[in-house]
This record gives sequence, C-alpha cells and structure tokens, in this order.
Amino acid sequence: HDFYSQFPDDFLWGCALAAHQCEGAWNEGGKGISTADVARLGGIGKARQLDDSVLPHVHYPSHLGIDFYHQWPQDVKLLAEMGLKCLRLSMDWTRIYPKGIEASPNPEGLKYYHALFDALLAHHIEPIITISHFEIPLFLAQNYGAWKNREMIDFYLHYCQTLFTEFKGQVTRWLTFNEINHNENTSEAAMASAYRVSGIRYDRGENISQIAAQSSYYMMLATAKVVKLAHDIDPQNQVGCVLALHPSYAFDCQPETALKSLQCLESDLYIADTLCRGNFPDYKRRQLAKRGLTLDIQPEDECAFQQGKLDFVAFNYYSSTVCMLDESQYPQGNHFKGGKNPKLPETKWGWQIDPTGLRYALNLFDRRYQLPILITENGIGLEEKLSGIEPIEDDQRIAYLKAHLQALKQALIEDQVHCIGYCLWSCFDVISATTGEMRKRYGLIYVDQDDEGKGTLRRCPKKSAQWYAQIIKENGKNL
Ligand code: BG6
Repeated sequence: HDFYSQFPDDFLWGCALAAHQCEGAWNEGGKGISTADVARLGGIGKARQLDDSVLPHVHYPSHLGIDFYHQWPQDVKLLAEMGLKCLRLSMDWTRIYPKGIEASPNPEGLKYYHALFDALLAHHIEPIITISHFEIPLFLAQNYGAWKNREMIDFYLHYCQTLFTEFKGQVTRWLTFNEINHNENTSEAAMASAYRVSGIRYDRGENISQIAAQSSYYMMLATAKVVKLAHDIDPQNQVGCVLALHPSYAFDCQPETALKSLQCLESDLYIADTLCRGNFPDYKRRQLAKRGLTLDIQPEDECAFQQGKLDFVAFNYYSSTVCMLDESQYPQGNHFKGGKNPKLPETKWGWQIDPTGLRYALNLFDRRYQLPILITENGIGLEEKLSGIEPIEDDQRIAYLKAHLQALKQALIEDQVHCIGYCLWSCFDVISATTGEMRKRYGLIYVDQDDEGKGTLRRCPKKSAQWYAQIIKENGKNL
C-alpha cells in the first residue's frame, strides 16, 4: 500500500504491563530490592510514602503485585485467548542485577524471563521490553544517588548488554525508559514523579532544577548509547524510549496563552528532539545557561547522541491538559501539569477523557519526527466490584477504548500517520503506579484483590476483554 485505507495487516494490537505493578515475588528468585519496593500505599490526595528500607508489618503493594511471577503460565493463556499480537512488559532490573553493581547476572532472573518470553512467542505474542519502568535497584539509589550520577550510565549499559546478549532472537523491540520526561515534572510534589522515573529523592536545599535537567541528560545519553549497543549486538534490534504525552491546549485565544502552551509542550519535546535527531538542542543549552544551570556535558557525548538515534518513537497517552496564564488555577496535586478543560469529562481520579488528544499527539509526533510510532499505553482507571454476575460489564471502559481507537483510526486513514501499534493499559488490573491502589482498575481482566493485598487473586475477564478480542480479530475494521 502506498497509503492507509485500513489498519495495516501487521498492526501490533497489544497490552502493556510493568514488572513492579504485577510480578510481586519481591524477595524470590534472587531478586534485589528496587525503588518501587519501598513505596507504600497512597490514595487520592495521599502521596505514597517512601521508606529507606523494607520495614516489618508495612504493606508495600509491589511485594505481591498480582502475583504474575507465579501465575504467568495461566495469564499468558488468557492473553493468547484475546489474540494479542504483542505484550509490552518491563523487566525488573533487580531480578537481573539485584544491587545493580554485580559483575555477572542472576541466573534465576534470566531463567524466569526466558521462560516467560518463550511462552509468549509460542502464542505468537511479541514481547516488547521496557528496560526500566519506574524502578531501579534501591542500592544504586542509596549509594550512587540514582540518575543524579553519571556513573549510572555504565551500570545501566552493563545491564542492557546482558539483556541484548541473553535475549537475542527472543526480543527485538526495546524501550529504554518509561515516561522519561516526567523526571522533570516538578508540578506534583517533585519527589513522587522524579522518584518513579529515575529513582531520585531530593534532599532539603538541593537545586531541584539543576538535578532534574542533569539527570534527564544522563538518561538521554544512556538511551543513545543503548541504541548503538543494541544495534551492535543484533542489527535486528529496534530501540525506542517512552514519553508521557499530554497535549497542552491553550485555555483561551489570547496570543500569550497560545505562546505559553507551545512552550509548555517544548519542555517535554526537547527530550524526543534530542533522541530522534541525535543532538542535544542548542536552544535547550542556551535556556539552561540563561537560568544559571550548567550541565555536565562531555565532548564525546555529542558523538554518542549522533550514533544513537531512536528507531521508533513511543508514547503513553491518557489525557490532555489546558495551559492557563494564571497557574494558581491549576488543581493541586494533579498528575498532569496544567489546568482542567471545562469541555471534558474526567475520571474519579481527575484524569480527563479526550480521544481527540490522542489524534493530536499522533499528528504531532508523526510530523515532527517522521519515525514509526508505537502507542505504549492508553486506558482508563475505574472502580469496579465483582458481584455474583460475571463478567463485569465495563461499558465505560469499552466506550473510552472505542473512542480512542476511533481517533487512532482517523489519524491513520485521514491524517496518514505512521503508527505501528497500540498497547492498551492494561490486560489485568494491576497496582496503580501513582497511588499504589488496586481499586483504580485498568484491566480487561479483573483481579480479585483489594488495596490491602487481600483477595483470591482470581482472574475474571471483563466484557471489555471479549470486545478487544473482537477488535483484534477484525483488525479494527468495524471501529
Ligand atoms: C503511566 C505508567 O503513567 O500510567 C503506568 O506508565 C501507570 O505505570 C499508568 O500504571 C496509569 O497510572 P496509575 O497511577 O493510574 O496506575
């Protein structure tokens, strides 16, 4: 085809998962403690408390997850029944390198992932791997300051070298980080967002802007080096990096608001600019210098950026925001930087629902980078209860997904955007990343567990599981 009139035959219909939100088994199989393993349960308006170590008698949601580590054989069968073409999942760094500094990897961790990937491939489900999704070894965070430190690049490369060598032939699509741009999101208590992405905790009196910019720089540099490493080990490898994309619309038509909303987006896009174009942009360097921030940039970094351009772009899309001149109007504690759009409905957790925003994001990335796009996450968190009658009739989720997939189809057919796949968050109800709750359910498949980790862990496909299976079967024809 020289243009899209439908979803292409090889479109990657998938779901997404992250290790620390589903695996559990936090101290089994030789696993070390990760930064996610010391985050307690939070809730709406209640940030997750972070401990310095695992304390007795405290409930840490990642410790059980949804017990995927033990239940994956049956779970993979459920995914196969839906006809998934791919599963985006993350590997837990601490299963491979428990502290992050070891010379050789933990064989049990490798064995676990080999078996899991084999099972997926046997069902023709391609594993797409996020190398670090909201966790790093706690040891590296506490002894090296996480991504504050340039030395992290070498630990990370060592980990990646192991993955690319071990899983050569099983995995070809890799994602270096999840929502790398949220490392600099200082709107929410700076700690929570940065901590998730890069493992950084800010000490009192530290220069947050300096550290945020520097750590993002190191993570970008690590990404570029990993792209080259991946290609050197296997030319089949394709590497991307996930951004959280939330288009920022101007609240009104005042020219100043339009300008501000453009600039607001720029603070996220400079990262994709760097990684796709292969150089750290001069505008960013000058902006930082003007603010009195000087980054540790070594002469050899330039070559690394040039040699490590991404093969494809990837983003998570949940919601758009609005940009206002008066930031005091922004709701406090909102996960997304920005104001509320009075034209859009929202979930109980305040995430606004905007399918057109997905089409906007696809157009933005397609025209700006001209690389294949993978949608790495999209979905809706709802409160749901198992009653005697199964399956759960999650019509609200189906409506959300349908509207977003229709927007994606419009982007393909009407705008001729080059999108290669869609990973729905999530196949199962999992631990919420921002709140640690189970009650914020995103799954096509219900998991019987409450916020305190009690329940049978039984899996019960919801109405949406059947609906998504049908969409996949028809390759999106009737959307
Ligand atoms: C994305 C993350 O930001 O949003 C996922 O990549 C996360 O890990 C998802 O689960 C939904 O967020 P939450 O906090 O509702 O689980």
